[in-house]
Amino acid sequence: MTTSPVVHITGARPNFPKAAPVIAALARRGVPQLLVHTGQHYDDAMSDVFFRQLSLPQPDVNLGVGSGSHAEQTAKVMVALEQLFLERQPRLVVVYGDVNSTVAASLVAAKLHLPVAHVEAGLRSFDRTMPEEVNRVVTDALADLLFTTSPDANSHLGTEGVDAGRVHLVGNPMIDTLLANLEAFDADAARTEWSIESDYAVATLHRPANVDDPDLVSIIVERLHQVADRLALFIPLHPRGRARLVAAGLDEHPNVTITDPLGYVEFMSLVRGARAVVTDSGGVQEETTILGVPCLTLRPNTERPVTITHGTNELVTLDTVVPALERVLAGGDEDRGTPPLWDGRAGERIARVIDGWLRDR
Ligand code: UD1
Ligand code: UDP
Repeated sequence: MTTSPVVHITGARPNFPKAAPVIAALARRGVPQLLVHTGQHYDDAMSDVFFRQLSLPQPDVNLGVGSGSHAEQTAKVMVALEQLFLERQPRLVVVYGDVNSTVAASLVAAKLHLPVAHVEAGLRSFDRTMPEEVNRVVTDALADLLFTTSPDANSHLGTEGVDAGRVHLVGNPMIDTLLANLEAFDADAARTEWSIESDYAVATLHRPANVDDPDLVSIIVERLHQVADRLALFIPLHPRGRARLVAAGLDEHPNVTITDPLGYVEFMSLVRGARAVVTDSGGVQEETTILGVPCLTLRPNTERPVTITHGTNELVTLDTVVPALERVLAGGDEDRGTPPLWDGRAGERIARVIDGWLRDR
């Protein structure tokens, strides 16, 4: 009889850099594993490039669910995973972050009485209009092992009644990946690639609250053009919102360069050399904190407040983004340090807990 594996569920771009160090650390311990890609993201630049650039094995299974409404996408993942879990009887299902694939896998596992480990548990924006917040709350309610990146996450889980014995503050596996690849992030190569001769900024936007409403998109484009009045602006466009941003004239400014999503190394190389980043991404708030690049987050809230208290992040609105950029360019922000345990060893800590937990069962 083959040993039941630990099954990892990935599917969307931010899952891959989080899963890589966990899978590598479990492999070093000889734990049998199965890597599932749900197919939530499928473009080369949103998926395959991470498997080429990171130390990630090719997925054992790709469910190929693709895009759809929330219910449609979540349901497709659930139906396919139910079958897979019944066949493979995982010893543990490991889910990452807050995407639809994460919550879908957690629901299926819980109904089949399979234990779930949630990597990046306990983050809360307290904004249930964000689909990710719903995914986080549901996943954490179902998880047996909860791995957190910052102390505020432990405190949210405590408030929600999660037994502290199940919660492990381990640091940030996304930052393991960043630190493991730091030498490959070459800002000079990015300058050469994009013929950049002066200071520049990078922007990424994909949250539904920013890019789904055409009226709001017009105002955002106006603000990005004001940023570009000040310095060159590079915008790798996520497929969500791309058409609306372009229709609103995003690239009709001489200082704006739009591109397809970049590979991980190319993206981090560009960010590393930037004077500032304007974003609504979760992961980018964390990565800029470690790279020391000022990050202006165009959102009313963040589930990652440690990037403000211990990093370079600042929440901005459409009214404050340009003045905030001016202030950043003038320099003089105090050094707020880095979040505790964001040291490149989170994957190893997670693997140690999982390995011990498997041995105890
Ligand atoms: C998803 C996550 C979000 C995460 C983001 C990271 C959910 C609810 N949202 O948002 O938390 O921050 O990924 O990037 O899980 N598309 C393509 N090619 C692809 C993938 C998507 O063209 O490879 C297009 C499709 O038109 C699709 C749209 O992007 O309808 C949105 O994709 P989807 O996976 O539903 O959500 P994201 O906005 O990518
Ligand atoms: N990223 C990338 N290329 C890009 C934009 C982002 O490789 O063009 C990486 C980056 O490391 C980021 C991660 O993808 O942290 C996930 O980003 P995204 O903003 O899609 O998801 P979120 O973190 O908001 O869920």
